[in-house]
Amino acid sequence: MRDLLASLDGLRGRLPEIAQADAMHLQQLRTELLGRKAGALTAILKQLATLDPEVRRTVGAAANALKGELEAALDARVRALAEIAGDEAAHDLTMPGRTAWRGGLHVLTQVVDEVCDIFREVGFTRAVGPEAETERNNFFALNFPVDHPALDAQESFYLGDDVLLRTHTSPVQIRTLETHPPPVRVVIPGQVYRRDTFDPSHSPVFEQIEGLAVDEGITFVDFKATLAYFARRFFGPRTRVRFSPSFFPFTEPSADMAASCSVCDGRGCPTCKQTGWLEILGSGMVHPAVLENCGVDAERYTGFAFGMGAQRLAMVRHGIPDIRLFFESDVRFLRQFAGRGR
Ligand code: PHE
Repeated sequence: MRDLLASLDGLRGRLPEIAQADAMHLQQLRTELLGRKAGALTAILKQLATLDPEVRRTVGAAANALKGELEAALDARVRALAEIAGDEAAHDLTMPGRTAWRGGLHVLTQVVDEVCDIFREVGFTRAVGPEAETERNNFFALNFPVDHPALDAQESFYLGDDVLLRTHTSPVQIRTLETHPPPVRVVIPGQVYRRDTFDPSHSPVFEQIEGLAVDEGITFVDFKATLAYFARRFFGPRTRVRFSPSFFPFTEPSADMAASCSVCDGRGCPTCKQTGWLEILGSGMVHPAVLENCGVDAERYTGFAFGMGAQRLAMVRHGIPDIRLFFESDVRFLRQFAGRGR
């Protein structure tokens, strides 16, 4: 009896081999172990009849259990092999490979960097400020009257009594002048927030690029020449600029600058709404009250400031028709600009 049980154990030792077998080997194993004529286990089972009842019961039970185990292992391996074969059939190895996507800077980041680079070449450094601002920095230090409509909760996103999401990047003028005595030349990109609803040209959050230059002897000529220079660098050397009177509480005089349309060269097209001009930025000479609010001597120092919409610049540059495209992260849009950034 001991011999029989030992040979059953020997057969059980073949289980790992079954789990590894290929299809052909599996067929051989099935015959070798369970084959009706010469199977090793079959041979043992055949001997059972010759044993006395006591021994037959013990060995019989063990042999039947092992038979079940071997059958299950063989079947499991058959299924596993079928699955592997199916997977391979599903992979067409002759199909051309997909090339990996190249990442790139967001089109807006590319435009902001380009603007900042143009100004850096003429002495402006890049500065930033927080998106949550005090009413003082966002409005009052910039000479807004207390009843200005922008202070209304209908227009702006208030976070608390005195704190709001900045409605423009101009509060960074205040932060800069309070911490850095003139001469100052900075460009300040950043997100700003207004209670506008989304449409093709409006978004409740968008990006501005602010500029500020304060020094002794800065004149209106420096102001116009610097911005005209920027327009020609950004839109091309043939670009003409037009300044028209405007109003901002923190500049005096104030001016809006338009550039001749870079798409139609001023002849009139959908991008410039047939006017030949693109309104690009608001600007002006820094109001003396702003300088004084920051502790800068307005008798000694003068300066100019400007603010422009980064999405608008990118839309003109690339013919992008809808501001919402900047926020949707649709790869079909984004990929058109990938790989162009530095
Ligand atoms: N802050 C102004 C706006 O958001 C733009 C501006 C900036 C105008 C600097 C003049 C000087 O509309």
